[in-house]
Amino acid sequence: MKKVFLFLSLILLAFGSCTYTKVEVPAKEDTCDTISYANDIVPIMTANCTGCHGSGFSSGDFTTYAAIKLRADNGVLKNRIVTQRDMPPAPATMPDSLRTIINCWISQGAPNN
Ligand code: HEC
Repeated sequence: MKKVFLFLSLILLAFGSCTYTKVEVPAKEDTCDTISYANDIVPIMTANCTGCHGSGFSSGDFTTYAAIKLRADNGVLKNRIVTQRDMPPAPATMPDSLRTIINCWISQGAPNN
């Protein structure tokens, strides 16, 4: 019994002594609010993406729903925004809260709502 107690104490000590930096990660899909393409996604794209991803841009004209929807469905959008997080390219930054909104919208089927 004493050994068990010692063992548990060591485990607690190990966990207790861990420090961690809180990273705001995109929300789990089941905690998402309903996202609107028009009200939520378009303003994010306009502020962070369409400067490059504008009309005629070969890697996606994100002023159009079709171009964004295509990349939401084939996984490329999630990959760049949530997994690799390399869009928008450095030195530009985009808050995690907006990455979360995009991730939620993708998980809801990227509707044109
Ligand atoms: C400074 C210019 C710039 C900005 C701003 C930018 N991008 Fe990009 N993006 C690029 C370039 C250049 C490529 C093509 C090269 C590559 O894939 O890295 C690209 C590629 C992509 C791709 C891959 C497209 C494909 O079909 O392969 C996605 C998805 C993407 N960007 C999403 C975004 C999103 C979403 C934003 C806004 C949050 C954004 N980008 C902002 C320049 C930009």
